[in-house]
Amino acid sequence: MGGELSSRSPLARGDWHYVEKTSLDALTPAEWAVLERQRNAYLRDHQAEQALRLLTASAGDPSFGYTVNMYRHALQSATMALRDGLDEETVVVTLLHDIGFLACPCGHGEMAAALLGPYVSERNRWMLARHAIFQDHHVAGHPGAGRRERWRGHPHFAWTAEWVARYDQNAQDASYDCAPLEVFEPMVRRIFAREPRPIVPD
Ligand SMILES: [Fe+2]
Ligand SMILES: [Fe+2]
Repeated sequence: MGGELSSRSPLARGDWHYVEKTSLDALTPAEWAVLERQRNAYLRDHQAEQALRLLTASAGDPSFGYTVNMYRHALQSATMALRDGLDEETVVVTLLHDIGFLACPCGHGEMAAALLGPYVSERNRWMLARHAIFQDHHVAGHPGAGRRERWRGHPHFAWTAEWVARYDQNAQDASYDCAPLEVFEPMVRRIFAREPRPIVPD
């Protein structure tokens, strides 16, 4: 019995139940309902912490050339947004805009959009998904500098261009006085505590 139990992951709460099945094919509707209820409760309590854990995973990483690493870039971006008086949602979006960069550099905007999209406005979700393409506009001679033009005239083009110009392309300053992460943590928790909205794929 001890061997069997020691191989199990512990449940998050003492009043939760294991479902003694090893495949989805074997689940009864009642067992699926138990798993759904427990999973949703777990996510409500832990999603923000998981996102913050992902953000801080790179806090001690080296820079690959800028004077700051990606974590400091995120803190500077968010601090600038905060000091400009942007709304809490946008400050959180700014803090987490590059959260998947080191693991998923080519799709990191889409990754942030997928993470935050259900909890934020459509304009911020749209901006997250495309911010890397808009950033190319700021690099002289960049081969992708004109790629954002495909979206000129879109309702969220101006906001995305403004956000990248004000809070992203210029947030690489080792001398910038960043606010500590603790300032942002309650904001992150409040955004993930929102009721998620369904996302229609682009
Ligand atoms: Fe980015
Ligand atoms: Fe960035």
